[in-house]
Amino acid sequence: MADAKGRIEKLKKAINKYRYDYHVLNKETISIEALDSLKHELKKLEDEYPELVTPDSPTQRVAGEPLKGFKKITHRVPMLSLEDVFSEEEFSDWEKRIAKLLHISYTTELFSELKFDGLAVSLVYKNGVLDYASTRGNGKVGEDVTQNIKTIEAIPLRLEKDIKGEVEIRGEVIITRKGFEKINREQKKKGEAVYANPRNLAAGSLRQLDPKMTASRNLDFHAYDIVGDIGQKTHAREHEILRELGFKTDKEAHIAKKPEDIFKFKEKIEYLREKLEYEIDGLVIQINDNAIFDKLGVAGKAPRGAIAFKFAPKEATTIVRDILVQVGRTGKLTPVAVLEPIQVGGVTISRASLHNEEEIRRLGLKIGDTVIVGRAGDVIPDVRKVLKELRRGKEREFHMPKQCPVCGHKAERDKGGPLTFCLNKKCPAKHREGIYHFVGKNAFDIDGLGPKIVDVLLDEGLIQDAADIFDLIEGDIKPLERFGEKSAENIIRAIHAKEKITLPRFLIALGILHVGEETALDLADRFGAQEKIKEASLEEINDIENIGDVVTKSVYDWFRDPYNKRYLEKLLRRVSIEKYHQPSGKLKGKIFVLTGSLETITRGEAKARVRKLGGKTSESVGKDTDFVVAGSEPGSKLDKAQKLGVKIIDEKEFLKMI
Ligand code: IVH
Repeated sequence: MADAKGRIEKLKKAINKYRYDYHVLNKETISIEALDSLKHELKKLEDEYPELVTPDSPTQRVAGEPLKGFKKITHRVPMLSLEDVFSEEEFSDWEKRIAKLLHISYTTELFSELKFDGLAVSLVYKNGVLDYASTRGNGKVGEDVTQNIKTIEAIPLRLEKDIKGEVEIRGEVIITRKGFEKINREQKKKGEAVYANPRNLAAGSLRQLDPKMTASRNLDFHAYDIVGDIGQKTHAREHEILRELGFKTDKEAHIAKKPEDIFKFKEKIEYLREKLEYEIDGLVIQINDNAIFDKLGVAGKAPRGAIAFKFAPKEATTIVRDILVQVGRTGKLTPVAVLEPIQVGGVTISRASLHNEEEIRRLGLKIGDTVIVGRAGDVIPDVRKVLKELRRGKEREFHMPKQCPVCGHKAERDKGGPLTFCLNKKCPAKHREGIYHFVGKNAFDIDGLGPKIVDVLLDEGLIQDAADIFDLIEGDIKPLERFGEKSAENIIRAIHAKEKITLPRFLIALGILHVGEETALDLADRFGAQEKIKEASLEEINDIENIGDVVTKSVYDWFRDPYNKRYLEKLLRRVSIEKYHQPSGKLKGKIFVLTGSLETITRGEAKARVRKLGGKTSESVGKDTDFVVAGSEPGSKLDKAQKLGVKIIDEKEFLKMI
């Protein structure tokens, strides 16, 4: 209880600060998703300890103070907000709660629609004519934005049907993603602040004092609610009436009979999300029958009969329980954060690489800290920021060990660099990781031979090094079948299928420090054969355009190490390297950098095609880059290309070239 109290206090303070930055200063100091994550934690704690809820808690407040400069309008019926759920489990909990309240063992029909990421507004029509319009503001009082609303063509100034008296329509003012990008480009050109997201832009555009400015923003509107009774019995019917009155409603919206329909719908929309014209951040699900919806009433600031089913956030906050140190195949010691398990991007993560000592220093991370985690490139978990204001004084400093955590041998920082290495050549951890790498995708790519089987092969003494893999027979693997991987026969077949290998893959498989895909290709292109690389002088290696001093020394030293020499000979007695054909296509010598996502071709394919035609690909834009291929939502590489004056081409042009 005391712990919860302290945590709640810290959370409230932090949330209030970020909210102020975001809503008042229009500054996004942490992402809205990370903020949501903090709010979610607070809400959960408060649910657990209701006696700790105070009236000033962010969970008790509705966003957005009305700005000065606009007339205030008091809503006739408060504009509520929605409770969020993030998982199927939380959604089912909501359903069960409703069913219990209604004394039924199943939920009635649900209505499901997209949750647009825009700004909620209220439109009041008098005798069919738009009388006034206001923003949601704090839910009770909003701002009069009638003049600006009138510039939005999607909003009828007169309803398509004459309705006597007053009728209030609610919905979301939104802007297309393309419109958002365009305006931000213009803002940048003018040297003005860019908007953090389409929602901020919609809000900013409606709060322009000059309606001409609003008009230039091409805002759109989707209606989702009719306040008061004009004969609508269900929410589905409400959508129909809204269309009859001249509004757009969500085209994907539909009735769901059971929760599984909702889960399927969500999956479909999550897949479609990137392709939609508008930014959405989840689904709104509500009881379709309005009488039941009304009967359920309101809890706090949200109706009980509706819920926002949010998409898996790409960022979340969690606690770093510990920092472990892993030893990789090159002997590199990598600190890894052990996290309180948390959902990010739809999967639960419990570990995140911290890369090296410098990164920990840069983040200012201590064990016990609350951090923002995300997934780099939407895949690899990473720690992005430490929320130092949530510290309690019990956090512990982390120190990189002076000894290898696996073999106990001395570990040292690389001269001048941020990395720490185990100095023991025969460190078992290095060895093990090296074999995982050897059988992995970019190297020998042996089907069905994953780390689990490699572990057993090593532990049972069936292999000493990677070369031994080629001496295995079915009988060695048979007892391992319980691991549920492929059958022994298939694995042995897969091993033999890889006895011939291309030169670049062979070089990658050797596990030479700093030799990844690009460097292996550069070495193959320059020397053409393993024997030549083995004998190449420092100058010859250093001569290669993309290869600097550090990589040169690493390659040169590897081939001169007695231990490696013996291993190389052993390996070459078991596998053969295919003759390497230096590429000589029409893209010879041209360097390509890919950024953003391509629609008709995967990144891997695109790179392979470039290489086949004699070109090269690189991960970073430099002066020697010939083309930057910009897909949709390109990153900072595009800005860099513009700065350096590198030619930028789109996917269509690129496809023509390849
Ligand atoms: S229904 C009680 N339907 O989400 C509020 N809201 O978190 C009923 N929103 O303030 C709202 N799309 O700004 C509803 N299809 C939709 C929506 C939607 C976006 C926003 C709206 C609301 C917020 C609630």
